Amino acid sequence: MSVSTLTASDDVVEYLAAHEKKSMLRFITCGSVDDGKSTLIGRLLYDSKLLYDDQLSALESDTKKHGTQGDKIDFALLVDGLAAEREQGITIDVAYRFFSTDKRKFIVADTPGHEQYTRNMATGASTADLAVILIDARKGVLTQTRRHSYIASLLGIRHIAVAVNKMDLVGYSEGTFEKIETDYREFAKDLGFESITCIPMSALDGVNVTGKSRETPWYNGCALLQFLETVKVRGGLSEKPLRLPVQWVNRPDLDFRGFSGTIASGVVRPGDHIVVLPSAKRSKVKSIVTMDGTLAEATPDMAVTLTLEDEIDISRGDVICAGKAPAEQTDQFAAHLLWMAEDALFPGRQYLLKTANRIVPATITELKHKVNVNTLEHLSGKTLELNEVGFCNFNLAQPIAFDSYKDNRRTGSFILIDKRTNATIGAGMIDFSLRRAKNVHWQDLDVNKAARASAKHQRPCVLWFTGLSGSGKSTVANLVEKRLHDLGRHTYTLDGDNVRHGLNKDLGFSDADRVENIRRVGETGRLMADAGLIVLVSFISPFQSERRMARELMEDGEFIEVYISTPLEVCEQRDIKGLYAKARRGEIKNFTGIDSAYEAPELAEIDIDTSEVQAANAADQIVMYLKDNGYLEG
Ligand code: ADX
Repeated sequence: MSVSTLTASDDVVEYLAAHEKKSMLRFITCGSVDDGKSTLIGRLLYDSKLLYDDQLSALESDTKKHGTQGDKIDFALLVDGLAAEREQGITIDVAYRFFSTDKRKFIVADTPGHEQYTRNMATGASTADLAVILIDARKGVLTQTRRHSYIASLLGIRHIAVAVNKMDLVGYSEGTFEKIETDYREFAKDLGFESITCIPMSALDGVNVTGKSRETPWYNGCALLQFLETVKVRGGLSEKPLRLPVQWVNRPDLDFRGFSGTIASGVVRPGDHIVVLPSAKRSKVKSIVTMDGTLAEATPDMAVTLTLEDEIDISRGDVICAGKAPAEQTDQFAAHLLWMAEDALFPGRQYLLKTANRIVPATITELKHKVNVNTLEHLSGKTLELNEVGFCNFNLAQPIAFDSYKDNRRTGSFILIDKRTNATIGAGMIDFSLRRAKNVHWQDLDVNKAARASAKHQRPCVLWFTGLSGSGKSTVANLVEKRLHDLGRHTYTLDGDNVRHGLNKDLGFSDADRVENIRRVGETGRLMADAGLIVLVSFISPFQSERRMARELMEDGEFIEVYISTPLEVCEQRDIKGLYAKARRGEIKNFTGIDSAYEAPELAEIDIDTSEVQAANAADQIVMYLKDNGYLEG
């Protein structure tokens, strides 16, 4: 194999230009150290002479000290050594290594292979063109082989190299290799791969790794490295239609108006027809401006500024698309979601969804099914746990421009962010827009909220009582409603125990069910406020996220959070319904305050502890708040 090293006589400029022109292949290796993965990567790097001399001598001496391979160099020590190094810093879960040959440049993503590292593998796979899946020739296709292949397919990898490794341990048996190849092709037939190439190999002995070896005369294909150097991976980002998410509008003076961003996919040239989303306005590219002057063409990942032939309104967050092949727009879609957080996913909870250029609030309206990543079976479920994959329907607060992930990995992917902690909690791949739902519009009615409220001479609002069971929520809410009723106000109380007999009788007390319970009550409260009522909601509503969601459903100032902060000991002592005693005896599971969490409000408008304040006084205090803040005028 020839290696790209520079000699003194080389024309540096020419060399760099040639290097620059070489195509790049990004691939991921899947398998565990036991399958010989580290040995394989080590050998690719070693044989392409990309190790520094000092690394090499360290490796040789390490091999003598710790090696498990007799006199042979133990390449696994090299890769594992790098892994240990990176574990010392902040956790980087995927190690990317770069190497090149005369024909191609390579970036290999190396991720840990265990089950709990699904999310790491997904990170590495999301930018890879090809996956090298290692199979131990003695073991054949295993559960982990299936998991790795499924995730590769989910993340849009279309080319697979199956490295049937450790062939030396099965005497380079053609029959063993053929059986594994047949098994793998049979299993993978529904995963949508465009090519599967199986290579018999011994990474340890360097058989069929960088050059074709004599040990496998029956094998007609090429060695892994030659395969990687020549495999054609179609569908690169430059072959996709143009997508340029606008990061900012560049307007230094009245004569210049440019739209700047990094090209997500496609190639753009002056004269090209474009369409801007969401406005759907059309124009033509006038010029492509960069720091180094104007260009005749720009390709993916280049940061550019486009000027257009026509004066059209474009703002940050819009997407400039190829005129003939614009992206779709939707606020409802179905997507595969990989859950990456310790806390489970809850349908109904509001998260932030971040695409290439926009962040919008989003909820999962339905978890259609979970996928067992080991067997590919579809399972039903109400939540997703860490590293699980689900197929979900999403509802967004505003439409986004997108492509289906299978068409464009850049504009078809998104991440989910926890609103409270800002942590990334999920990675998604959009499958299709739910057009059916897209056609449901909000119907503007002539008799509106203002009209209904003024007929009742009141200002609608939602008094949201939250607190432990037995804290006194319902008692106080009942007294407040009586007082308001006496004042001639139009009210309605939504009480947990009552609503759970009807609208929510399908829900229990798991975290997922409570999220849905509060989502429905929040929506019902909103409708009632829209009807012009003063609504009293009395639910434990233990989670901050859902209380925040309910608040955000209402207009500013319409949501008044009343925290009944009576301590757990007092609630338990009262035990009006005898439920605490049952929970302590283990007869009721997931009881709030005992074995299910209650997240106290941080910024409730009103906070009352009924172990210190009489219920009647508490009610007075709340009515006073309404009066003082203008809710009872009119
Ligand atoms: S919430 O957590 O989903 O907001 P909700 O207010 O609807 O709860 O219902 C709470 C009422 O259900 C309690 O007042 C109690 O009477 C009853 N209940 C039955 N099982 C439980 C449980 N495991 N946890 C809390 N409340 C329970």
